Amino acid sequence: MKVIHTKEGLTDLIGNYKKEGKTIGFVPTMGALHEGHLSLVTQCKKNSDVAVVSVFVNPTQFNDPEDLKRYPRTPEKDCALLETAGCDVAFLPSVEEIYPEKDTRKFDFGYLESIMEGAKRPGHFNGVGQVVSRLFDIVQPDKAFFGMKDFQQVAIIKNMVRQLNYTLEIIPCPIVREASGLALSSRNALLDKEHKENAPHIYATLKKARELASQMSVNELKKWIADEINRNPFLETEYVEIVDDTTLKVINDWKEEGTKVACVAVYAGKIRLIDNIVF
Ligand code: PAJ
Repeated sequence: MKVIHTKEGLTDLIGNYKKEGKTIGFVPTMGALHEGHLSLVTQCKKNSDVAVVSVFVNPTQFNDPEDLKRYPRTPEKDCALLETAGCDVAFLPSVEEIYPEKDTRKFDFGYLESIMEGAKRPGHFNGVGQVVSRLFDIVQPDKAFFGMKDFQQVAIIKNMVRQLNYTLEIIPCPIVREASGLALSSRNALLDKEHKENAPHIYATLKKARELASQMSVNELKKWIADEINRNPFLETEYVEIVDDTTLKVINDWKEEGTKVACVAVYAGKIRLIDNIVF
């Protein structure tokens, strides 16, 4: 595996692969890698000749400076994990390398950024758009792999790809969970023992909710989910939303067409966790 820190280094390398006719797959990450990230690398390797993974904690997508400060950073361990997962090129740039000057671009994701993560984390998706577009420009991938764990992010990235006329394919990948049901997340490393033990209640509630869906209205079920999560003294629900899987439009009636996804953001102490389930 090659470990690259500069844009120039990566551009040269990718140029050579392209000359050889190889397809480039790309997995952007913020590091503190776990099996969820590695499942994307496995998919990437299966579907492309060269697997490129970036590890970059992007400051522009953190609306909370404390969250950025405490975000876990484990670059050596990440490289070791990437090597075993079959990654060909690890790209670990500095902040100056990605942002030599302040990125002043403002994306307009319209409705997609008006709900859930967009509403609760102002500026977050703009920062995601800034970094992912810069990374796409450098890596020039044929395919890019994103986890359904960040369900709304996938919709935002697909929209950005259309807006900026990128020709690459976006491939959504399933959520990887612990045996307890807790969705793997780099932020899980920040949970203390008690919050870690109680966090699986989030997915347990989502699974129960899927079973109860036929017995309640959409709004009753959303309230039930919030109440059920909040019943646990270590958890506090920030939002519960049930949306269409492609348009992200809020569902009001089960009779509406399309696949429905229940999405939650929950505080486990100071740590904010998100999860979702397809109904
Ligand atoms: P990060 O949170 O590191 O996640 C990188 C990728 O891994 C995302 O596509 C995310 O959805 C996926 N992922 C995380 N946990 C997962 C799990 N349990 N199962 C499956 N996939 C999982 O998302 C970001 O970084 C950033 O916003 C980024 C796109 C890199 C831009 O900075």
